[in-house]
Amino acid sequence: MAKETVLISGGAGYIGSHTAVELIAAGYDAVIIDNLSNSEAAAVEGVRRITGVDVPFERVDTCDEAALRRVFEKYDFGSVIHFAAYKAVGESVAEPLKYYRNNLASFMNVCALMKEFGRPNILFSSSATVYGEPDTLPVTEQTPRKPATSPYGNTKQMAEDILHDCCAAYEGLHGIALRYFNPIGAHPSALIGELPRGVPQNLVPYITQTAAGLRECLSIFGDDYDTPDGTCLRDYIDVVDLAKAHVAAVDRMTQRRMKEAYEIFNIGTGTPVSVLELVKGFERANGLTLNYKIVGRRAGDVKAVWADTQRANKELGWKAERPLEETLRSAWAWEKHVRGMN
Ligand code: NAD
Ligand code: WQD
Repeated sequence: MAKETVLISGGAGYIGSHTAVELIAAGYDAVIIDNLSNSEAAAVEGVRRITGVDVPFERVDTCDEAALRRVFEKYDFGSVIHFAAYKAVGESVAEPLKYYRNNLASFMNVCALMKEFGRPNILFSSSATVYGEPDTLPVTEQTPRKPATSPYGNTKQMAEDILHDCCAAYEGLHGIALRYFNPIGAHPSALIGELPRGVPQNLVPYITQTAAGLRECLSIFGDDYDTPDGTCLRDYIDVVDLAKAHVAAVDRMTQRRMKEAYEIFNIGTGTPVSVLELVKGFERANGLTLNYKIVGRRAGDVKAVWADTQRANKELGWKAERPLEETLRSAWAWEKHVRGMN
């Protein structure tokens, strides 16, 4: 007997597809909507193959209020997980309105329809980007947010505020914002994973594409930071662990265990890893040598950010579990699957 139904906007994407799998494994029914602007319908097939469930999928743009309304009329879900957004930081600087429209207008549509239809629970994909370059480490949920340095980052801060304000104003509406650190890796089946379009901006897809021979050489952006080996420190969170954090947050909402109408949780491992450590870890985990060189710093990069995860550990009963080595093996297995190299 399924627990209840969860609507997953952006569920054909990287984190959404993994979350669909874990929700179904935990006994929820899932409905996926996505406009496939940054994903393929094959991801939904992957979810179906892994779970053995014919998960409903609707090609819907969350900016399209009428189309979204039809989804609310058709399916009886009590919770939505809103992943649907654009996420390229650099592009957001060049095309801010594209980001404000897609990431905020669509989110307001979701919030308004949740209120109108009396559906109680909204889970929002936020980001460690809200902390900017923090003054103290690790960051807790109380660590002050820094002024956003990109329109993308700004959309995360603004959407958090929109959710906070809606949950304060509208009786019965509950919201959780999960602030993800750096999601990496893929499902152990290698049937779903991250699918960047064009040249990857993020470290792990660049590493796997270099290993696959699509890119000649990985550029490490700066080794002159004030860190143990001079490269930046991040908190790399396995995508399956991250997906399970969503299940824990949905459980908290549906079981009415929330202490406030709006809550925030950091979702990371709590362990800082340098760029060089990650590269060497990838080589070790997969028994290969990566072509890389040190180049200058990338504009806008923060030196170090990692999570204090105590709140998520205690309140959600969730903890990152998958060893980094296994995560890095899964990233490579997925890349090989995508390139037909298996
Ligand atoms: P993704 O691009 O793989 O997934 C997002 C999905 O949303 C895509 O399938 C895309 O087609 C869809 N989408 C975008 N706009 C839409 C719209 N208007 N209507 C319907 N579907 C739409 O990205 P992801 O890495 O899975 O990220 C999911 C969420 O998590 C995003 O909100 C992102 O900002 C956030 N996030 C991601 C990271 C990261 O590093 N991957 C870190 C922190 C937060
Ligand atoms: C990680 C480290 C780079 C590529 C971004 C967004 C953030 C969030 C997660 C959504 C940094 C270094 C990278 C490369 C490198 N997304 N690097 N060579 O910048 O921490 O965060 O994704 O919310 O908002 O900004 O992640 O993977 O791009 O970089 O040396 O080719 O790897 O300098 O130190 P980042 P990343």
